[in-house]
Amino acid sequence: MITGMNHAVLYVRDARRHQKFYEDVLGFSTVIDHPDGAFVFMRAPASTNHHDLACFTIGDGAQPSTAGRQQVGLYHVAWEVPTLADLEAYRQKLTEVGALVGASDHGANKSLYARDPDGIEFEVMWLVPADEWGDEQHEAIVRPLDIGAEVARFGSHLASTSHKVATSNGTVHQIAENQYCHFFDDAEFVPTDREGFRHRIINGDDLQLCFWRIKGGAEGSFLHHHDDHEQLGIIMRGALDFRIGDPDDQRRTVLRAGDVYLAPRSVDHGDSIFVGDDEFDECWILDVFSPPRPDMHPTSANNDTNSKEVTA
Ligand SMILES: [Fe+2]
Repeated sequence: MITGMNHAVLYVRDARRHQKFYEDVLGFSTVIDHPDGAFVFMRAPASTNHHDLACFTIGDGAQPSTAGRQQVGLYHVAWEVPTLADLEAYRQKLTEVGALVGASDHGANKSLYARDPDGIEFEVMWLVPADEWGDEQHEAIVRPLDIGAEVARFGSHLASTSHKVATSNGTVHQIAENQYCHFFDDAEFVPTDREGFRHRIINGDDLQLCFWRIKGGAEGSFLHHHDDHEQLGIIMRGALDFRIGDPDDQRRTVLRAGDVYLAPRSVDHGDSIFVGDDEFDECWILDVFSPPRPDMHPTSANNDTNSKEVTA
């Protein structure tokens, strides 16, 4: 009983050139490296497989593939990503290096198309969760892809299906419908309508994390409180110079990396000055809300992740 496709093997002009492309652009790692560059075996960045791709050198004199025009052959290999945030990150990277040649919404698949150094096409795609396929699963749909619109519908971190992924050091993490592990990734922080404020939101059933990265000196904080939510703020980098408690009390408190504040329901906090750290000139704050704020939940009709009222 076959469980699925395991790996692809390509004949290429120079396996070393492909190795560099797949490492630099797609994040693959090398498993087997022939000393003279005759072949290379590679593993996708979140794969638990031995190898997902192998490339064999046949020399720079090789002609371009005419598969699909004059010859039969393989059209493309599709690489799956767990979330739309990953798809967007690859879209940016493939665009940067000039490899992106197309993007399509196929209903059940949201797909990017690109070409490797020899012009061989490959796809990077996110699979919509099966319970959302509907009747479109039986249609060969080709629509323009708008990743932003898909994120608005599905959220940026919805995992398409239950599968295991491994980090680059081989540690295996379970990724399910509700993703367990959220690795630090600069591309996952979203700018807000306040200049200098980026955040990343992770939603649980009964709590919610808003990871803020705020440029030193950024303005826009005002005194506020939450009637229905407790807020725990953990300062990770830089410093937070703010007020908390009696709104008429003008005294300020400075919290630094490792310090924490707890704002119970209806307790005022804010009027903040954000002090950047030495490395990024950013103040990092982990805001935890309980219960989760519906206005920051991707599935909420009221979702407004640019809300002005989200941090100290
Ligand atoms: Fe707050």
